[in-house]
Parts: sequence; C-alpha cells; structure tokens
Amino acid sequence: MKAIHLPSSFIPDPSTLTPTHIPTPIPKDDEYLIRITHCSPQHADILHAQGKHQNNNAKRGWCFPPFVLGYDFAGVVCTVPTTAASSIGGGDSGDGVRMRKADMVFGAAIGAFAEYICVKRSAVRRVPEGLSNETACAMVGQAVSYASVVQIAKVRPGETVMVSGASGGLGGVCCMVAKALGARVVALVGDEGKAALMRGSMGDVGVDAVIVMREGGGREWIEEVMAFTEGKGVDVVLDNTGVVDDALRCLAYFGRIVILGFAARKGVMEEVKMNKLLLKSATVVGYRFGESGRRFPDELEKIWEGYLGMLQEGRLKPLLYGRYDGLEDVGRALGDLAARKVYGKIVVKIANEEETAKL
Ligand SMILES: NC(=O)c1ccc[n+]([C@@H]2O[C@H](COP(=O)([O-])OP(=O)(O)OC[C@H]3O[C@@H](n4cnc5c(N)ncnc54)[C@H](OP(=O)(O)O)[C@@H]3O)[C@@H](O)[C@H]2O)c1
Repeated sequence: MKAIHLPSSFIPDPSTLTPTHIPTPIPKDDEYLIRITHCSPQHADILHAQGKHQNNNAKRGWCFPPFVLGYDFAGVVCTVPTTAASSIGGGDSGDGVRMRKADMVFGAAIGAFAEYICVKRSAVRRVPEGLSNETACAMVGQAVSYASVVQIAKVRPGETVMVSGASGGLGGVCCMVAKALGARVVALVGDEGKAALMRGSMGDVGVDAVIVMREGGGREWIEEVMAFTEGKGVDVVLDNTGVVDDALRCLAYFGRIVILGFAARKGVMEEVKMNKLLLKSATVVGYRFGESGRRFPDELEKIWEGYLGMLQEGRLKPLLYGRYDGLEDVGRALGDLAARKVYGKIVVKIANEEETAKL
C-alpha cells in the first residue's frame, strides 16, 4: 500500500514528505482492517514527524521510526476481528455498536496517512446517520473541544469565553460549542486575513468578537478584550496556543483557564508567576483528552454522545480549508499547517466512499 512512512529517522520539514510503498498491514485477531477514505492532518502530526511530541516514545513504540504518520481518519471496514468480543464492541470497545464489513467508520490511531490501517475496536466508531466520511474525519479530533468546554470548563450560559488559536481545528469547535451553550465568545486569531474569514463565517462559528493577536506583536489585544468585557475580563479561557501568562491579564476574578495545547510555543513552555493566579483567585487546569478517555471510558462515552448529538443536530459544522487529494498532498497539507495558512481543518481524500463500500 501507499503510506507516509518514516523508515529510520524523524524529519525536520514534514512538508517534504511523500508517500512510499510498504506492505499492507495484517490485522491481529482483535483488530479491524480499514480501507482509509480520508485523513485529516493536524498540528500534532507535525510534532510527531519532527520527534518533538510527548508521544515520540521509543519505549512504548509510539511514533518512533519506523512508523506511519497520521492520526485522524475515516474509512470503510474491510475485515472484522475473529474474536467475538471485539466484533460486537465488547472488551476494549467504545460505543458498543456492532461493526460489520463495509461499515463506514471514523477514528484516530497512529498510522492514518496510509491506504489501510489495522485498529482495535476502541479506536473506531461508526459514522453517524446523516454524516459523510469527510465530515466525520474533519470532526474526529475535536471531541476534545467539546469535552473541554462542557466537562472541564463547565461553561454556563451568559459567561464570556475567550479561545486562543480560534481559527484552528480545536479552537473553531471550542467557539461553536461555547456558543451552543449560550456563552459570549471572543476568538483570538493570528492575522487580519483569518479575522476576516472568521467574521465572514460568523453564521457557522457565530462568535461575538474576533480579535487579532499577532505573533511577536504588542499587547493591544488585551486592551481590546478588556474593552469588550467592559473591564471585567473573561470568565473562561480555552488555551490552544500557550498564552496563560497573557490570558491572566484579561481574566475575570475567579476565572478559569483550560490548557489544551501549545501551538504557538515552538516547544518552549511558558513560565507563570504563581502570585498572578492568587491575585485573581484563578483556576488553571490542564486537559489531556486521550489519557482521560483511557482512564475514564464511561465519561468518554458521555462526551462522544453529547458531541455527536450536537453534530447531527447541525449545531456544529466542519470548517474545511482548501482541497487536498491523495497521499501525495499530505506533505503540502502539513506545510500549509506549519505556515499557519489553514483556517479550520484540512481533509485529504484518499479513496472514494462509494467504491470502497463495494470491497
Ligand atoms: N489537550 C489535548 O488532549 C489535545 C488534543 C489534540 C491536540 N492538542 C493540541 O492542541 C493544540 C491545537 O491543536 P489544533 O489541532 O487545533 O491545531 P491547529 O489546527 O494547527 O490550530 C492551531 C492554531 O494555533 C494558532 N497558532 C498560533 N501560533 C502558532 C504557531 N506558531 N504555529 C502554528 N499555529 C499557531 C494558529 O492560528 P492563528 O494563525 O490564527 O494564530 C492555528 O490555527 C496543539 O498544540 C495540539 O497539539 C491537544
């Protein structure tokens, strides 16, 4: 099969990656073989390729050469496991739905930039009624956003929520979920171009204010946030980029900050003086979606139910950027992500759903 394979070392510039031919994987007794129809490159894939992510772990064998890059995908079931528990969704299962050959599925597992992937039941879900593989693929990674707004920040109607990296995959959905809960949302974006796109798609994202926070720029944006909140500050910050120190300056008293990611930190973590937290009686909480789901599977199921429900009701919509066709386009997609061109999510089409359904 064709795959974006890193045979022996990490790679500094993932935009140079091209597909090569490697053997099609053979599923173990408890695994499904999936023909991938779509994959969705994200910021973490860049770090995985460069060896800069906490998942680049030689001991656990995750994301350590030789490995196939990629995480989020949608596809069609080619073969089901031979062990009964796995095929009905028992054992390590997620949603408990029986999976059959030719079912459309979506999920996340290392190795998604390929034509085929072998996964356990817990890594995939059936594409819900009324959604396409493209939509499911674009949205698979953002259950994180739903959980951070609903379960971690516990956003209440009427609260003001600020989202950093709002033009990104997680950020855009954080905005939509917070709006769906009745919050006022302030979106922070990196430049005027993305601000214009965000303002233009207010029907989809529906934020109340879009504020530009330029990399290496001044702190005017903090004054804009304070003006928008009439001097009170925001109740909740969902931080995708690593701006806790600055966010504390425009946080309301007793405000909450949820740390989701560090997209703007270039691998250098920020240091925050603890007295700043005390002075505002602030709560700062980290949230690691994957590990939380592994430790608390029942909670994970509630998250998926709520998130997919919002998607099916049309309260959340994928924001798709550009057009990417085939594994040959994965390098370009990763380059566009790294260059911060992307607004919303990239989905790369790898095969036709209709054709693969006949497998
Ligand atoms: N906590 C979890 O469980 C979890 C799960 C998945 C991912 N993450 C992490 O969450 C973060 C956001 O993920 P994502 O998928 O939303 O990423 P994404 O789609 O690449 O979006 C990140 C956004 O950050 C902004 N940004 C600011 N400075 C940047 C820089 N120097 N380089 C790249 N982007 C920059 C960009 O918007 P502007 O250009 O408009 O500023 C971009 O849209 C990442 O750090 C990711 O690793 C966390």
